[in-house]
Amino acid sequence: MMSYPIIRPRRLRRNEGIRRMVRETRLSPEMLVMPLFVCPGEGVRREISSMPGNFHFSVDELTSECREIASLGIGAVILFGLPPEKDETGSGAYDQDGIVQQAVRAVKSELADLTVVTDVCLCEYTSHGHCGVLKGDVVDNDATLELLAKTALSHAGSGADMVAPSDMMDGRVGAIRDALDEEGFEDTAIMAYSAKYASAFYGPFREAADSAPQFGDRRSYQMDPPNVREALREIELDVEEGADIVMVKPALAYLDVIHAARDTFNVPLAAYNVSGEFSMVKAAARQGWLDEERVMMEILLSIRRAGADIILTYFAKDAARLLG
Ligand code: PBG
Repeated sequence: MMSYPIIRPRRLRRNEGIRRMVRETRLSPEMLVMPLFVCPGEGVRREISSMPGNFHFSVDELTSECREIASLGIGAVILFGLPPEKDETGSGAYDQDGIVQQAVRAVKSELADLTVVTDVCLCEYTSHGHCGVLKGDVVDNDATLELLAKTALSHAGSGADMVAPSDMMDGRVGAIRDALDEEGFEDTAIMAYSAKYASAFYGPFREAADSAPQFGDRRSYQMDPPNVREALREIELDVEEGADIVMVKPALAYLDVIHAARDTFNVPLAAYNVSGEFSMVKAAARQGWLDEERVMMEILLSIRRAGADIILTYFAKDAARLLG
C-alpha cells in the first residue's frame, strides 16, 4: 500500500484555487430559504430582540424585503404570520383575508418569480399556543386535520407556490394533498416538516412568532430527540401521503438524522437551521467569541454535507451576500 511520503494530502490544500477545485460540498443562494414574519399594520419593520437582523414586517415592508431577497438569488421565502387576534381554533390561520394570505398575494403580485412557501400550523393563531385544536387539554389530531387543510387551501388560493405543514399531526400531508387536489391546486407542492423534534432550539422563534404554548409542551406531537428510526418512519409516511419535499428540523443537533434520511429517500430533502441555532451564533459573535461569518458558513456547509438539498435559515441573506 502506498502512503507517505508518496501520498501527501497537503498537495491539494496548498492554495485556494486547488482547494476550490477539490471541494466536495458547495453552497449557493438558490438552496437557501429565508423565513420571514409578517404582522398587521403599515410601515412596520420591528426587530425581533432574540433574533438580531430579523424583523416583524407589515405586508408593505415585507414586499420590499422580498425584493431584496430575490435580488440576492435566494431560492425562496417561507412566511409565518402574527395575526391581529388569536382564538381557541386558530381561525386567523384559515381566514381568506388573514395576514399570511394578504402577504402572499402582495408578494406574488409584485415578484411572480420568487418562490413563496407558507408555514401551515395553528400555533401562531391559537390562544393556547398549541399546534392544533384542543379536546380538554389534549391536542385533537383528527379535528385539527380539517383546519390545517383549510389553511393550506387558503394559502394556495392566495398564490403560494408551496405549503409547509409544521404541526406534526398524523395524516396531515394526506389531508392537505386531498384538499388541494379537490380544489384544483394539484400543482401546489407540499414541503412537509416530516421529522420535527420537540426541541429547545425553537426558543427565540417562539418570541418571534408569539407562539409559546400557554400550558404543557409539544412533546405529545413533536418527536422525541433520541429517536432516529422513528424519523425515517415519519418521512416514509409523509412521502406515501404525497409530500414533495421532506424536512428534518432542527438541523445542527440532528445531522445524523439528515444523513440517514438522505441515504434512505430519493425526494428532495430540506433541513431547518432553526432560530436557536442562529441566535447562539449571533450572541457569541457579539461577545467577540466567534467569527460570525466563518461559523455561519461552516454550519451551513455541515448541513449540506450531511445531505440536505435545501436549507431554511435566518442566515440566508448574510450567506447569499458572501457567496456573491
Ligand atoms: C410552528 C413552527 C415552529 C417553528 C417553525 N414552525 C415552532 C414550534 O414548533 O414551536 C420553529 C422555527 C425556529 O425555531 O426557527 N409549529
